[in-house]
Amino acid sequence: MSMHIAEDKIADIKNAADIVEIITDYVVLKKTGKNYVGLCPFHSEKTPSFTVSSEKQIFHCFGCGEGGNVFTFLMKKDGLSFPDAIRLIGKRYGIEIPEKRHKEKNRGFDEKEILYNINKMAMMFYKENLQNSKAGKMAFAYLKNRGMKNETISEFDLGCAPEGWNHLLNYFSRKEVSQKIIEKAGLVIPRKDKGGYYDRFRNRIIFPISDMSNRVIGFGGRVMDDSLPKYLNSPETPVFNKGSSLYGLSQAKQKCRDSETVYIAEGYFDLLSLHQHGIENSVATLGTSLTGEHVQLLRNRYVGENGKVILVYDSDVAGIKAAQRSVEIFKQGYVDAQILVLPDGFDPDSYLFKFGRESFLEIAEKALSSMLFLIDSAVNRYGLSIEGKNRIVSDMIKHFVMIKDEVIRSLYAKELAERLGIDETAIVRKINDAYETMSRETRKKPGKSSEKAIHDGIKKDSLSINGQDLYAEETRIEKHIIAMMLQFPEILPEIKKRDVLKYFQHANLKSIGQMIINKMSQYNGQVSEILDTIDNMENRNIITSLAMGKEVWNLDGCLKLIKQFESSRSRYDDDLLRRIKAAEDSNDDKLLLELLKKKQAKANTFKHDLESSGGKSK
Ligand code: CTP
Ligand code: MN
Repeated sequence: MSMHIAEDKIADIKNAADIVEIITDYVVLKKTGKNYVGLCPFHSEKTPSFTVSSEKQIFHCFGCGEGGNVFTFLMKKDGLSFPDAIRLIGKRYGIEIPEKRHKEKNRGFDEKEILYNINKMAMMFYKENLQNSKAGKMAFAYLKNRGMKNETISEFDLGCAPEGWNHLLNYFSRKEVSQKIIEKAGLVIPRKDKGGYYDRFRNRIIFPISDMSNRVIGFGGRVMDDSLPKYLNSPETPVFNKGSSLYGLSQAKQKCRDSETVYIAEGYFDLLSLHQHGIENSVATLGTSLTGEHVQLLRNRYVGENGKVILVYDSDVAGIKAAQRSVEIFKQGYVDAQILVLPDGFDPDSYLFKFGRESFLEIAEKALSSMLFLIDSAVNRYGLSIEGKNRIVSDMIKHFVMIKDEVIRSLYAKELAERLGIDETAIVRKINDAYETMSRETRKKPGKSSEKAIHDGIKKDSLSINGQDLYAEETRIEKHIIAMMLQFPEILPEIKKRDVLKYFQHANLKSIGQMIINKMSQYNGQVSEILDTIDNMENRNIITSLAMGKEVWNLDGCLKLIKQFESSRSRYDDDLLRRIKAAEDSNDDKLLLELLKKKQAKANTFKHDLESSGGKSK
């Protein structure tokens, strides 16, 4: 760990942090009973199994098995170290951490922080320049001419880069910022010949791009005349990744949540116009096409699993291309996209400028889901002659196979059949054949198996630990006892007194139980507290899954459970002996060996048992 954070600060931060509040930044959560549920950010799923308990301050995904407290969540989600997760939460709740740093080890985090700061300074520089310079006057006039209101200009921190090669460079050198780090931020470019650097953005309107936490991650810049390139963007940097960033997201996010709808446009001005016309639940891609990451982000954190995603494109050709891609992307993330193609020659900005908000919303209302859009475009392209229909069907098959949900696939098949006036079953058969072929092929390729297989894989891993099946009948009661220990800490002294854990067969459950007993004095019933000290991820996941239960415990019930466990253990012994006998009788050497091993393991526990309890076993 790169720095030492005082224990009392950690305690303050733990007390302040609310897991529901923090996770809400990442996942759309709905309250169900005592807990909150949402779509798991750690695996892809269609129905929510990611559960957050406010009372226990833990999360657990019953789909993939991932679990932990607020710190492990951030560590896993954002790849932070424990101290970095502490710092991040401290910052959010205004708890200052005085720190002694050991620079080298923590470079990754520090560097990002520095880049955010550099970007912020650059943003201020460009803003200042727009407001108060001669060059700024022209830029301001340009923005006004394009209908931008003052509020929009200030809300989106628009700016302008002056003409000339080293204005930003000089600004930073006055502030004694090293040129290397400005280069790393993508703001200056090294000169090829004589060394040194020059400003990347010159004589352009500047659009700062921020992430959802409002940190400036990069910039876009537009010329104010017809020169080329029209737009210039920051290069990818340690804080700027175009495939996962969206312009306008931090301004749009609350509206996206509220309306469960998001419009995705392609350009900076499109986004600003949408926003200005009160369609604030809008974002724009950054000169790249929409990616799966974008979609996951919007769906998991903002619009939710049933949310509406509307892609707004400015021409048929772009629309068709985007729709094709989106079927692929969206079907993996289980959200459907609607495609809104604007009349020829218009983009969202120019459409809104000319026809206004009402008209835009009216045509948005008629946007087609991506599959229907593709069917429509294919019909337009090929016509409804016999040959045309044939081409439409074979063209559409490749989109159909992207849809994993069989019901949805058949609904669209029905739609296609109706549009073409042909027999539905023929189409369904064709699609299913193609789907089978495809999934057989992906199944063959290791590492690119279908989502379900991946999902099953995760599940299996978390169930069968060290070869011991966590879901075997014989461990059921052991799990129940650990759950009781986690949820009803009053029972811990009794567990210790009767040494219940000694009879545990499942190694992980046994060590979890022992750890709970060891921490008994600190363990005041807050499960999230013990999670920090567990490095073993499997054990952490088992704990959160068992702690999440809804059972109501009382002392009587607990004692009954313990008794039941103790007698099941002796029944297990009898049973084992019976099975050994049977294996001997049937000469099944393999089984016999396995059973004898079990017996040996058991004997070892009791040997230890006898020694420590002075010969008074069970
Ligand atoms: N783009 C880019 N680099 C370019 C051209 C375009 O990164 N050389 C990106 C920008 O994000 C731009 C978007 O693609 O906003 C759409 O480009 P385009 O349709 O050409 O521009 P508009 O957004 O319509 O811009 P304007 O209205 O200012 O002409
Ligand atoms: Mn435009």
